[in-house]
Amino acid sequence: MEFTVKSGNPEKQRTACLVLGIYESRRLSMAAEQFDNACGSYLSNVLRRGDIEGKIGQSLLLIHTPNALCDRVLLIGCGRERDLDDRHFRQIMANAATTLHDTGATEAVSYLTDLNVKSRDIHWKIRQAIEATEEALYRFGELKSKKDQPRRPLRKIILSVPSRRELLVGEQAVREGVAIAAGVKLAKDLGNLPGNICNPGYLAERAQELGHTFTSLKIELLEEDEMEKLGMGSLLSVSHGSAQPAKLIILGYHQGPQDQKPIVLVGKGVTFDSGGISLKPGAEMDEMKFDMCGAASVLGALQACAELRLPLTVVGIIPAVENMPGGKATKPGDVVTSMSGQTIEILNTDAEGRLILCDALTYSERYDPSVVIDIATLTGACIVALGRHPHGLLSNHGPLANDLLNAGRAAADRAWELPLWDEYQEQLDSNFADLANVGGRDAGTITAACFLSRFTKKLHWAHLDIAGTAWKTGKAKGATGRPVPLLVQYLLDQAAATATKE
Ligand code: BES
Ligand code: MN
Ligand code: ZN
Repeated sequence: MEFTVKSGNPEKQRTACLVLGIYESRRLSMAAEQFDNACGSYLSNVLRRGDIEGKIGQSLLLIHTPNALCDRVLLIGCGRERDLDDRHFRQIMANAATTLHDTGATEAVSYLTDLNVKSRDIHWKIRQAIEATEEALYRFGELKSKKDQPRRPLRKIILSVPSRRELLVGEQAVREGVAIAAGVKLAKDLGNLPGNICNPGYLAERAQELGHTFTSLKIELLEEDEMEKLGMGSLLSVSHGSAQPAKLIILGYHQGPQDQKPIVLVGKGVTFDSGGISLKPGAEMDEMKFDMCGAASVLGALQACAELRLPLTVVGIIPAVENMPGGKATKPGDVVTSMSGQTIEILNTDAEGRLILCDALTYSERYDPSVVIDIATLTGACIVALGRHPHGLLSNHGPLANDLLNAGRAAADRAWELPLWDEYQEQLDSNFADLANVGGRDAGTITAACFLSRFTKKLHWAHLDIAGTAWKTGKAKGATGRPVPLLVQYLLDQAAATATKE
C-alpha cells in the first residue's frame, strides 16, 4: 500500500473515495461537518434517517453525494469522541481499511487522521494509521494454492493533515510508519512459516537476503564447529536432538558515530520447540513454530533501522536451533558447560530458550555494548501472569527498563515490568552444577529471567518475554510482528537522543 499526506478541505478532494468519521450518537466529525456544509446537509439527512449510529465497527458507503468531487463517501463509526484512545483509533483505522478494501475504490483520501485522540499528535496518528491499516489488510497466503485477491484492490491512501504546516511532520511519520509496518510484516511472514520451511538454515538465508537488500547491514554466520570452538556448550546442547544444524546469525549495522557503543538485540530463534526429551503435550504443539518470533522481531527491527537510515550502531544476534527429541538429544539431568564457563544442569529440555540465549548473551560482550536487549517467547508462565496484551519486561538496569516501557507506550506496543529480585535466584540452585535450567512452579517468567541474569552481570541488559504477544491463538491464529514497533521506537528515541547530545 502506498501512503501520502495532504492538507485541504474534504469537499475539494477529487478521489475514488472520501473517508469521514461519524461519532456516536450520529454526530459529524469536523471534516464530515465541512463536507456536509458543502453538499447541502446530505450527510446530516442520512444520519437522521438512522442508517449509521457512529459506533465503532460501523460503516456506510454513500454514492452520488451531491456537489461532491469524489466518487464515493465512506462513513466510519468512531464511537464517543471523548473515549477516543489509542486502541479505539486503531480499531477505527482497521475497520476503514477492510471496508475500503471491499469497495471498488483503488485509492482513497482519509480524514480519520483529523480525529482527536487523547494526548496524541498528528505524527502519532499518521504512523498508527499506517500500521493499523497494514495490520488489518495482512494475509499470509504464500502457502495457499489459490490466491484470493479482490478484483480491484486498494492501492493508495492519502491521509489528511490539518494544515500545510504539518506536511513535513506528516511525511516523516509516513516514512516511519511504512518502515515499521514493513518490519512487522517481515516478522509476521517469518513467524507464520512452518517449521519444515523456516528452519535455522532458512533464517540464516533470509538474514543474508536482508544484507543484500541493504548494504548497511553486514551479515555474519557461525556454524556449529565455530560455536564449539567458542565453548557454546549450552546453545549446542539444544540442537543435538535435531537433524538441523544450529546457526548463529549476526547482523551488524554501523551507521552511528565512530565512538558509539552498539545497541545489541538478541532474538530467540527456536524454529520448532517440541520440548525435546521433555516432550510437550500434543495439543497446540503446532504453535511452537512461532518459537522463533524473537529472532524474527530482530530481523524486522534491523530492516526498519536500515530503511530509516538511523544514525546508530546496532548489532543483532540470533541463535537459531530446532529443539527435537532425537537419539542424540540432551536428556534431563545432563550437565553442560556454557560459554561463560558456568555449568548448567538441564532438568527440563523444554526450558531450551534460556540455554541458547545465555551463550548468545555471553557472546554479545565482545561488542562492548551500551545495552543488550533480548527478545524471546520464553515462558508459558508469562501468559499466565500478564495475558496476551503486554510483553513481560525484566531488566538489571532501571534506565533501560524505563526507556523500553516508554517506547512501548509511544508505539502502542506496550510492555509491563516484573521484578528481578535476588530473592528468586535460589530457585535455580542445583546439587550437581552451578545452576539448574528451571526454577520450579513459582514465578516461571521471573526465574527464567534470573537464569539469564547470571550471564549478563557485565551488561546493561533487558529481557522481553513475548510468549503472550508474538502470536495470536484460536481462529485468528498467526504471528503479530510484535515487538517490532516497540524496538524501532526505542531505536528512534536513541537516535534522537544522540542527535541532541552532539
Ligand atoms: N517456547 C516455550 C514457551 C512458550 C510456551 C511460549 C507456550 C508460548 C506458549 C519455552 O521454550 C518453554 O517450553 N518454556 C517452558 C519452561 C518450563 C519448562 C520451565 C514453559 O513455559 O512451560
Ligand atoms: Mn520449550
Ligand atoms: Zn521454546
